[in-house]
Amino acid sequence: MNVLGIETSCDETAVAIVENGRKIVYSQVISQVDIHARYGGVVPEVASRQHILSIIPLLEKAFSESMLGWSDIHGIAVTCGPGLAGSLLVGVNTAKAISFARDIPLTGVNHLEGHIYANWLEENEPRFPLICLIVSGGHSDIVLMRDHGIYKVLGRTRDDAAGEAFDKAARILNLGYPGGPAIDKAARSGRPVIKLPRAWLKGTWDFSFSGLKTALLHLSENNGNLNVYDAAASFQEAVVEVLVSKTIEAAREFRVNQILLAGGVAANRLLRQQLTKSSPVPVIIPPSELCTDNAAMIASCGYYRFQAGKLAGLDLDVVAGLKMEEIPS
Ligand code: KG4
Ligand code: ZN
Repeated sequence: MNVLGIETSCDETAVAIVENGRKIVYSQVISQVDIHARYGGVVPEVASRQHILSIIPLLEKAFSESMLGWSDIHGIAVTCGPGLAGSLLVGVNTAKAISFARDIPLTGVNHLEGHIYANWLEENEPRFPLICLIVSGGHSDIVLMRDHGIYKVLGRTRDDAAGEAFDKAARILNLGYPGGPAIDKAARSGRPVIKLPRAWLKGTWDFSFSGLKTALLHLSENNGNLNVYDAAASFQEAVVEVLVSKTIEAAREFRVNQILLAGGVAANRLLRQQLTKSSPVPVIIPPSELCTDNAAMIASCGYYRFQAGKLAGLDLDVVAGLKMEEIPS
């Protein structure tokens, strides 16, 4: 079964075709990062206009380059939340139009659930039960997954998401946008020698990164000749230490078979290294290009939803604040 995936939740327009949920036939992402960089963050109105300009040419390119036709597509999976409403609408309306015109079944995918499925595009199929750490621009969730579509969110961030913390820290240190890759790179030239706080929130699986960000802000304001490389390395170490430690604790407590890593921050080199090094169970981490937003993960997730009979009608709508527990059925 070939599923066409469409992703437009934030500032990446992405289209992919995935066979049987696990094999990427085609995947392409058009990033708007250069357009938003001059504003220091994503401007929603600009993002949705760019999606409108990109989506149809991208679909046409997908078919010409994969040499497939509409008759080769057996299902359409589209991100319907969480994300920017105007951006999500472009993908959802495109998907609905194709579904109606070509009579192809449609399913709506929760973007966060989609991130998890980047792990199903790897060679070794994940084995349940498992713990997944989802760390993106808007979310930091520790999720227990017992089967396809069966999730329990154990903990989440109480303030800034991990990616948001990276973006804000990079802004404080004048390292540019997007902040995650900039901190990752700067940290390689520095040493984690500056003491920064960690919020452990003991007895919960929740995270908090706003105190760390404020500590970094005070440090940079009060220290004229701060070594930004050391500051980046110290900040990154503080975030990674808490993420890794809590994820491993959850894996032990729930006696899972595996740990999965997902979301844009999963591209972080130190996080990948530390989690793999310290985990008592095998860790699956998608390649960096499948950790950041893409449509292959949406198509993979969509395949398992089609298998479970979770179809959407033409009344499928976007939900900007969609939560992990509110996966559309
Ligand atoms: O999942 P994603 O592509 O989009 C959302 O769904 O939010 O995640 C984007 C986030 C941004 O905050 C970006 O700074 C962060 O992922 N990110 C990284 C790295 N690459 C992207 N954070 C740390 N290290 C990286 N190498
Ligand atoms: Zn994402």
